[in-house]
Amino acid sequence: MCGIVGYIGSEQAAPILLDGLSKLEYRGYDSAGIAVFNGSEIDMVKSTGKLKVLEELTKGGATLPGFSGIGHTRWATHGSPTDTNAHPHYNKDCSIAVVHNGIIENYLKLRRKLEKKGYQFVSETDTEVLAHLLDYYYNGNPLDTITKVLYRVEGSYALGILFKEHPEEIYAVRKDSPLIVGQGKEGNFIASDVPAVLKYTRNVYFIENQEIVRLTKDSLNFYNIDEEEIQKESTEIEWDISAAEKAGYEYFMLKEIYEQPQAVTDTLRPRLKENEILIEELGMTEEEIREISKIYIVACGSAYHTGVTAKYVFEGLARIPVEVDLASEFRYRNPIFQPGTLVIVVSQSGETADSLAALREAKNCGVRTLGIVNVVGSSIAREADNVMYTWAGPEIAVATTKAYSTQLVAEYLLAIHFAKVRNQIDEQQFQSLLNDLKKLPDQIELLLGSKEKLQHFANRYLATEHVFFIGRGIDYAISLEGSLKLKEISYIHSEAYAAGELKHGTISLIEQDTLVVALVTQKSLYKKTLSNMQEVRTRGAFVMAVTNAGNKEVEKSADYVVYLPETNPYFTNSLAVIPLQLFGYYVSLGRGLDVDKPRNLAKSVTVE
Ligand code: AGP
Ligand code: GLU
Repeated sequence: MCGIVGYIGSEQAAPILLDGLSKLEYRGYDSAGIAVFNGSEIDMVKSTGKLKVLEELTKGGATLPGFSGIGHTRWATHGSPTDTNAHPHYNKDCSIAVVHNGIIENYLKLRRKLEKKGYQFVSETDTEVLAHLLDYYYNGNPLDTITKVLYRVEGSYALGILFKEHPEEIYAVRKDSPLIVGQGKEGNFIASDVPAVLKYTRNVYFIENQEIVRLTKDSLNFYNIDEEEIQKESTEIEWDISAAEKAGYEYFMLKEIYEQPQAVTDTLRPRLKENEILIEELGMTEEEIREISKIYIVACGSAYHTGVTAKYVFEGLARIPVEVDLASEFRYRNPIFQPGTLVIVVSQSGETADSLAALREAKNCGVRTLGIVNVVGSSIAREADNVMYTWAGPEIAVATTKAYSTQLVAEYLLAIHFAKVRNQIDEQQFQSLLNDLKKLPDQIELLLGSKEKLQHFANRYLATEHVFFIGRGIDYAISLEGSLKLKEISYIHSEAYAAGELKHGTISLIEQDTLVVALVTQKSLYKKTLSNMQEVRTRGAFVMAVTNAGNKEVEKSADYVVYLPETNPYFTNSLAVIPLQLFGYYVSLGRGLDVDKPRNLAKSVTVE
């Protein structure tokens, strides 16, 4: 999710807002806008495209005179990237303007209530609800108005707010989305991230959830949700800009690995209401879900790997036959579709040429299509009959991590929902699956704590030339992703193999100290995989096993074991992938490579 800025002080606000937004560009965005109080009105300019467009429209800010303002770079989650959907959003008489970073999960319910009260909406965004709610509760006291709104809003937010009747002030508040306040000599600042203010001050306050800030040009006041004033300590930032862009992480990839608990939460939570699954954007009636006769999951790279996992989940829970296809193959093999087919195209960028072509092929055959996409308004999102967004936020590193994890949970949600609608699981199974889903973010968080252990292990393999990843069933799907993560960023040759298939030839490649990473998370297949581990170990391999906590038996067949928290066997990929992401990251780091931008690769493969 993108970026907000705000400034109030003795300098012209617009150029400072534009400069601050330029320091947040690295976070990825699709549109931008600024609003400035010009002495009598709130003036605003916003547009799709790069910040350059906004700078040209405002002549570097000169067309928006004024000493206080807010700005936004948008990463669309609700409503395509358009000028109208860009922020700031405002109430009818433009006496209140707001910029928002995050997702208002109950925006539809709030929008319906406000429309019933006569409010008219101009955008498709969740954010616009905030502008009209602030208007609805406005009683001349901005702090009181804001707290009334916060009590009614669910979701994540970092907000910058202008009230025309209070031109000497700007307000900010956050919940789950990041927000900092900068205290400078020429004025005070708000921003989603430190880089936006470093040019003006290193003295910042990190805002906690549901803390509200009032800024004037020479004062800062902090309040809790009960409107009680609180004291906060400031921090002197030591970072330089490039370190700050990665929030102190060395590479975006590690930052994004660590963002996975939040990304999975953002993708799950709006769709899990009162122990029910709510996928409004699916656009399918229960009857249509019951009529599905076959599912194709079509994608490339890591997105394809999530499809290999999802096949087991759909077939295991919903008992729907699933065929998983590489998009580059699907589009040329003239697929034979039966009535009731659903084609699901999975793509982080929504622009992958092969996946887009596969989608068009399916549509030309009159088959129903669903996109599982991260970039709102991307080609696949727009052209699929329906789209289910993964709210991972902008993913900068070429090697996908958080988008991959959100694709998995989106597929789990679909499979469980389909299974319930088709009466393949009972209420008890349904609730048990939901409970296991809800635990995933915390379990991922727990596994992130093992990064030092993985770094130490990875440093033993910096010079290795061949690595094998093996597994059966869902463990094979995990091995596919583990292998790709390693090779695409460390340039070490690695292969993923169905563990039972190794003995049909490839085992001849195993020699003394060859690293074999064995995925052993499927209890029903433990013994089979353990024997495959023995097979390679007796031929000299060093076996690293990734298995469930408590599976001590595996230690007899492995040289190094990573244990995972207990979860439903269908969901183990979401946990097992974490140590494999960290392993690939630290091997690449140890080899001194550019982890975020590996050679020969692009973040979005828009060529065939
Ligand atoms: C994964 O780390 C790679 N970056 C690559 O395999 C990627 O998953 C593939 O190109 C598909 O991209 P998409 O999800 O944007 O369609
Ligand atoms: N959910 C809001 C929108 O789609 C804000 C997205 C963001 O964080 O940039 O406009």
